[in-house]
Amino acid sequence: MILGLLGGGQLAQMLALAGHPLGIDTLFIDPAADACAARVAHHLHGRFDDPALLQQLAERADVVSYEFESVPTTGIEWLASQIPVYPPPQALASGRDRLHEKQLFGKLGIPTAEYRAVNDLEQLLGAVSELGLPALLKSRREGYDGKGQYLLRPGASAAEAWQAVGGVEAILERLVPFQRELSIIAVRSREGEIRCYPLSENQHRNGILHLSIRRPDDPLQGQAEVLVSGLLQHLDYVGVIALELFAQEGRLLANEFAPRVHNSGHWTMEGALCSQFENHLRAIFGLPLGATQGSDEVAMVNFIGHPPASADLLAIPGLHLHLYGKEPRSGRKVGHATVRGDTLTTLQQRIDAVTALLAEG
Ligand SMILES: Nc1ncnc2c1ncn2[C@@H]1O[C@H](COP(=O)(O)OP(=O)(O)OP(=O)(O)O)[C@@H](O)[C@H]1O
Ligand SMILES: [Mg+2]
Repeated sequence: MILGLLGGGQLAQMLALAGHPLGIDTLFIDPAADACAARVAHHLHGRFDDPALLQQLAERADVVSYEFESVPTTGIEWLASQIPVYPPPQALASGRDRLHEKQLFGKLGIPTAEYRAVNDLEQLLGAVSELGLPALLKSRREGYDGKGQYLLRPGASAAEAWQAVGGVEAILERLVPFQRELSIIAVRSREGEIRCYPLSENQHRNGILHLSIRRPDDPLQGQAEVLVSGLLQHLDYVGVIALELFAQEGRLLANEFAPRVHNSGHWTMEGALCSQFENHLRAIFGLPLGATQGSDEVAMVNFIGHPPASADLLAIPGLHLHLYGKEPRSGRKVGHATVRGDTLTTLQQRIDAVTALLAEG
């Protein structure tokens, strides 16, 4: 079996690794000569819309998937006319534009922060007076890791914010005073079976995910499952999805969804019987889904910029190291650690040990 992928970053790398024991080989297109998935999968080097490369992918792969949202629509649509593409391209289309995404949530009765579409400075000024401040200005497209966003505090200059996001189509969103940030990773099979992982509780640093902790038995699990299931069914989705959520006074608001495996689900590699990567492959290849439960307490810590020394990390009991083979660079995700413990106290001690190493570096 051959998986064709658009994108060759760490998500592609981890999908390829998960495919290996299942007899699935991976072939991917990526314009970066140093795409990290090339360590474990076959690299078709070039643009995502290169007709010759797309042709090769369609001829050689059994199923095509993608590891990021801003893949050119034309390439995906052409591929979908040739071979199965999962998740379905319509999921990609609604997830890549923050306005369409919010409108879809609204249509499905999934609550979100209050927002307004803004296409110019005048509309921004109008939205600011309607929603009040603080609020976040977010470009509609191409944002990730907090890029393309500007926080307008009370008294902030709207003109400065408009310039900071590049004067592109955007939304203004009320800042949610959430108690916790959560995400739910779920998978839907070709037959429509849905399985959800326990919630992840997430902490960000400088707009980039820093820590995810698995929260089994969370009182909001049922609510999150209802929201994500509605989305999966509406999109006739196949594969893994991530829904990012804010928890505010016992209620969930949806932030955004990612039509792919997600950073906040990396702990599933050692913290669930079947990881998000394997379940994505099982779903898109039409195989039975795997169990999403696990026994130990588990968390994931991201390495941004530069990872601590492997010897120091691996001296921490219950730690699993994942390095992506990427050149260290400020703000870049270069690896992560899964940390496990038999109690939450042990887990927290081990997370603290990793965080201390990060602080030293
Ligand atoms: N309306 C909001 N209220 C409060 N915090 C917010 C709001 N929107 C975003 N944030 C914070 O900023 C982070 C990044 O925002 P968002 O997920 O929209 O952007 P992103 O660039 O797609 O990030 P990522 O790629 O990490 O998912 C959120 O995880 C959350 O911590
Ligand atoms: Mg996000």
